[in-house]
Amino acid sequence: MKLLLPGCALLHGGMPNRVLYLLGSAAPPVLGVGSVVESAQGRGWEVCLGLTPTAADWLEDDLGALAELTGYPVKSRHRRPGDVDQWPPADAALLAPATFNTLNSWALGLTSTWVVGFAAEAIGKGIPLVTMPCVNSAFLAHPQLDRSVEVLRGAGVRVLLGEGGFVPNRPGEGRPNAYPWDVALDEVERV
Ligand SMILES: Cc1cc2nc3c(=O)[nH]c(=O)nc-3n(C[C@H](O)[C@H](O)[C@H](O)COP(=O)(O)O)c2cc1C
Repeated sequence: MKLLLPGCALLHGGMPNRVLYLLGSAAPPVLGVGSVVESAQGRGWEVCLGLTPTAADWLEDDLGALAELTGYPVKSRHRRPGDVDQWPPADAALLAPATFNTLNSWALGLTSTWVVGFAAEAIGKGIPLVTMPCVNSAFLAHPQLDRSVEVLRGAGVRVLLGEGGFVPNRPGEGRPNAYPWDVALDEVERV
């Protein structure tokens, strides 16, 4: 049974659920985020879904159903001053799929999207953070990508890139259905 307490995550059988912020940017695996929400819920997480504005645009027709599935509004924009935050505090956050743009913005501290703003601040708040990029081998060859991964790892973020995480495909050969969401959710359990 689920009970809702003001300002708290839902209770399953009297135990408060751990809260996972699932944050997605605009790479094709984000189109399957609904089933990832369900997987995380099945692992005992209360899930709050955040999207970059571009990812929210791609999922425009599904945003209502995703809000219903999580029980919380889907966030894709910064709040206005005075707006009340309707999400419970995060116990962990998973930023996936992380585009080249979002990953570099995060590492550089360029917080023009809500997702990157949250993730940047979460480092300083000590919230456990996992990210799994979705970048092809051409993006990987850009000199900033290595620097961004190094900066984020140095800040304590678990970056699942390469063997054991997301292995970049060649441009045009992406397989969104093979994006290893389970690896990312397993890592969230570990952090
Ligand atoms: C069909 C399609 C597929 C894309 N796939 C990727 C991808 O796998 N990785 C990536 O970094 N960008 C990809 N992009 C480009 C991003 O969507 C684009 O850079 C966008 O500005 C990212 O915004 P965001 O990081 O704020 O979500 C794709 C774009 C389109 C239209």
